[in-house]
Amino acid sequence: MSALKILVIPGSLRSGSLNAKLAAVAAHELARSGADVTRISLADFPLPIYDGDLQAKSGVPKHAINLKRMMSAHHGVLIVTPEYNASVPPLVKNTIDWVSRVQDAHENRGQVFRDRVFAIASASGGRLGGTRALSALRLILSACHATVIANQLALSFADEAYDEMDKLKNSADSEALKALVRQLIDVSQRMM
Ligand SMILES: Cc1cc2nc3c(=O)[nH]c(=O)nc-3n(C[C@H](O)[C@H](O)[C@H](O)COP(=O)(O)O)c2cc1C
Repeated sequence: MSALKILVIPGSLRSGSLNAKLAAVAAHELARSGADVTRISLADFPLPIYDGDLQAKSGVPKHAINLKRMMSAHHGVLIVTPEYNASVPPLVKNTIDWVSRVQDAHENRGQVFRDRVFAIASASGGRLGGTRALSALRLILSACHATVIANQLALSFADEAYDEMDKLKNSADSEALKALVRQLIDVSQRMM
């Protein structure tokens, strides 16, 4: 059987992003568990704000097509999102919106969401750790007919959660991450 491939997508471009750090820790844990991991930055897939007129005129931008194809080349996807005003940031929503418009040959539009497993995580300096962003993201992905695993991780007080090596300090956080990774791998393997 070929190696299980997991794509990790941090939903923040900010230098020092708490979510990019969590994505890096998660990628490390996924690799330790045997997955073949690709961690990207959405800075490499810049997209205009979705506009139906733009799509009608110029089609779906190549970065959305490239990201969709990258997702297609993986069995599972982990999205690590910040929380902005109790929801997902525009970067995350806009990226999903564009990718959901991609239609490759012999596929339905948005097929990439139907055929693979998603896991979601968030990090925030607040007590809730981005829980509301996760609810919003779960709803968005469900609307795209994605399978989203039940386990999720909302890392609270994330500005104090990492040590000087950017590893998680608290064992409860590490255990929650491990449980997320285990379930993502299990469910992705079953859907391979
Ligand atoms: C526009 C905006 C809205 C925010 N709203 C929330 C919020 O609703 N809940 C929360 O926990 N943090 C909120 N924050 C704080 C972010 O969680 C914090 O800036 C976090 O570090 C952003 O993620 P990053 O470090 O990965 O860039 C908000 C930040 C911004 C810029």
